Amino acid sequence: MSMSDEEAVAAIRTHHAELQSDLRARVTALENSVRRGEWHGDVQRSLLEYLDGELLPHASAEERALYPAGDSGLTALLVRAMRDEHRSLIAHVSELRAATDAVTVATTAAAILALFESHLTKENDLLLPALAADASVDVGSLLAGMHELVG
Ligand SMILES: [Fe+2]
Ligand SMILES: [Fe+2]
Repeated sequence: MSMSDEEAVAAIRTHHAELQSDLRARVTALENSVRRGEWHGDVQRSLLEYLDGELLPHASAEERALYPAGDSGLTALLVRAMRDEHRSLIAHVSELRAATDAVTVATTAAAILALFESHLTKENDLLLPALAADASVDVGSLLAGMHELVG
């Protein structure tokens, strides 16, 4: 049995809040390390592990399970922009992986956080309400078994 639309939307929003606070904590740790002039390699690696292990899998799960439901009608352009933002996040993660000097590492990490937060706001405040309001979309059944989407 799948969740109601309301339960599914609440579960995604809760998972988004966890991702945001976990990402923010890791980016802040990295910035503090750079600010103190310490070696940033360990915190950079920890941030990359989080991005590769949690954040990018969440984005790809959305592209499989959630975004196709918004590919037509009112949400079509929004979903196209959201997919483009995922591509941009992936490109920034590659830049972070390649970055060695402290300034580039810190500014790239800050860009990832800003991009992700603005992306989450669109998902929570625009896409999810629009999908929940669409009688032809059952958000709960889209999420069945998608642990990357709801934690
Ligand atoms: Fe998301
Ligand atoms: Fe997304």
